[in-house]
Amino acid sequence: MAEFHLTRRCALAAGISVLSGPACASPQKVRLGQIAARHALTFGAAIEPQFVEEDQDFAKLIAEQCRVLTAENALKWNALRPSPDQFDFAAADRVAAIAQANGVPIHGHCLVWHEAMPDWLIRALSPATAADLMTTHIDQVVRRYAGRIVSWDVVNEVIERNDRRLDGLRQSPWLRALGPDYIDLAFHAAHAADPQARLSLADYGLEYDNIGWMVEKRGTLLERLRALVGRGVPIHALALQGHLLGDHAPAFGQGLADFLAAVADLGLDIYVTELDVNDQNLAGSGTRRDSVVADIYARFLDVVLAQPAVKMVVTWGLADRYTSKASFFPRTDGTPVRPLPFDQDLRPKAATEAIAQAFDRRGG
Ligand code: XIL
Repeated sequence: MAEFHLTRRCALAAGISVLSGPACASPQKVRLGQIAARHALTFGAAIEPQFVEEDQDFAKLIAEQCRVLTAENALKWNALRPSPDQFDFAAADRVAAIAQANGVPIHGHCLVWHEAMPDWLIRALSPATAADLMTTHIDQVVRRYAGRIVSWDVVNEVIERNDRRLDGLRQSPWLRALGPDYIDLAFHAAHAADPQARLSLADYGLEYDNIGWMVEKRGTLLERLRALVGRGVPIHALALQGHLLGDHAPAFGQGLADFLAAVADLGLDIYVTELDVNDQNLAGSGTRRDSVVADIYARFLDVVLAQPAVKMVVTWGLADRYTSKASFFPRTDGTPVRPLPFDQDLRPKAATEAIAQAFDRRGG
């Protein structure tokens, strides 16, 4: 299968018959965004604006590969809100400018999260102030980018079963100030600010069939989604972060498929919004690690893309040259981490081809 696809792409690049195509010395550059688009899928990556502005080769790769961009940090409260009465849109505007130059939309990340909260906000949050702080922020930010940010992670990481609430919601500063209805409030505010925007609830730890707490979290999340939809809250998608584990058996099977089908049955779309593979603890040479990482991408995407409700795949960064995994999950052997589709030199890796082939296997 793999060889067939590689050969076919090479053959097409060389303009020769697929059936008679020989091995290809210089294959056509894989363009993930273009391939995804053939299969009713939008592909893109999260960026930090400075890396795109300062590195022309990286900017070129982003332009070639991405049909949507996400701001890795520029739209979070700690980037946007230096003080209670100030907005600083500088970094977010730079992401918007890059997207505009490339002619692609933005997936916004994120409006309400228990992290990346400025100190002043944590101090200021109280039952008396929280609703206004939240809705004013959402209103200003969503309105400013209406038409450019076409979808939003409205709430991020709101499930935490260890916090021992019956509803499974995280005991976040927002919940403590406003109660569980803060989620409804956030979605209503975002919808009022831009009725066209597609609104998602994002979370991690939902991917693996053989990790008990993830399987349980799927159940809790489904209950919460069902309740939101049942109350008529304007939510349109689940955003599955997709931070995959290089040193864990790639158990993406019927459990994941059934979970995604249940989400789709609620009438929701599904996005994969932070895809990468953590190779912190993977043994072996770069080449061996790359093939393990590629296999994990392929196995995950094969299950996920079989679900027609899946409309978007975004990787958390695009090339190993710029990845927050390097500081958060460094390797003990001192070699650079290799979690993303393209390498330090911006060359395609085994993962690039594996992702392209998984897109192609989707058919459609
Ligand atoms: C991370 C960024 O990648 C880092 O650069 C930043 O220092 C912290 O946040 N889940 C999320 C993302 O929803 O916002 C996080 O991004 C990674 C985990």
